[in-house]
Amino acid sequence: MNLPEPRGPLSAAVIASLRGGTPPEAVAVDEQVPVLSDEDAQLALWVLFELHFRGFDDVAGDREWDPALLRLRGNLEARMEAELREATRPALHAAPDSGDLAEDLFALVAADHGPSLASYLHRHATREQVLEFLAQRSVYALKESDAHSFVLGRLDGPVKAALAEIQYDEYGGGRPERLHSTLYADALRAAGLDDTYGAYLPQAHVETLAANNAQAVFGLRRRLRGAAMGLMAAFEATSSLPCRRIAAGIERVGLPAATAAYFHEHVEADAVHEQVAVRDVCAGLVAREPRLRADVLFGVAASLHLDALVGGRMLARWGAAPQVADGRRSA
Ligand SMILES: [Fe+2]
Ligand SMILES: [Fe+2]
Repeated sequence: MNLPEPRGPLSAAVIASLRGGTPPEAVAVDEQVPVLSDEDAQLALWVLFELHFRGFDDVAGDREWDPALLRLRGNLEARMEAELREATRPALHAAPDSGDLAEDLFALVAADHGPSLASYLHRHATREQVLEFLAQRSVYALKESDAHSFVLGRLDGPVKAALAEIQYDEYGGGRPERLHSTLYADALRAAGLDDTYGAYLPQAHVETLAANNAQAVFGLRRRLRGAAMGLMAAFEATSSLPCRRIAAGIERVGLPAATAAYFHEHVEADAVHEQVAVRDVCAGLVAREPRLRADVLFGVAASLHLDALVGGRMLARWGAAPQVADGRRSA
């Protein structure tokens, strides 16, 4: 893909620097403005992180490790982490501590009362709204699970094997046509949408960008490996039932079976992944490194928080009343 259009002075400075092969121009940043809800800052972060994924056709590859860009990104990342820690403090304060981390994680997910996009898509969304949802989700799904792969080299033993097992599934189990990102591209094409990587980045809401960026903020930093795995586990643990609802919604509005197929695949796959992610990856990691417990919980809470922002934005945009939570209990 090529560099996107900027959405403010910060993303403009980053994009101009990447395009021109020049150091980023200093931009006066108001540290009082939260980065989580600032689309200029989130787009700047997304672009900087993308240098570690597919990159841009119009940017030289070695800019990935440009110290000035890394410094700028580090500042945005630190602010985003601090804001996420602040936002998740109440949920973490109320989190159970039973001595069984897996049960605590499932309880934290079940206690979440974020708005349910899946319930709305299931019963009420118009065809246009379903298409809009599919486009928004493509920002993540066309590089599905890639941020979590950065963590593999930071793990060992049974925890590494468990994450590799999940990733092997996400990456198609040896069959490129079964890569989840490929299944998603198939889903988009069948629905008449553009399956080009990054095609819907210009339409991505700030919440969508933030949810994507959080995976990289955690996944690219060894210190945050516990949070990265908590985030991944919460994602898996809030996927199976909602995917069933989304598939039903896709069928209800008359979109093709190939579009629903991606979500049907996740009903089965994520029912398994959530168990492996919570028990073998997260609980396994904390059994080896007990001081990572707080960060694993933080990652779970951050995922739920970001998911609520993404869902809330779309429901508000559609004038829809918030639905019941997507949690495991609302089957
Ligand atoms: Fe997947
Ligand atoms: Fe999964």
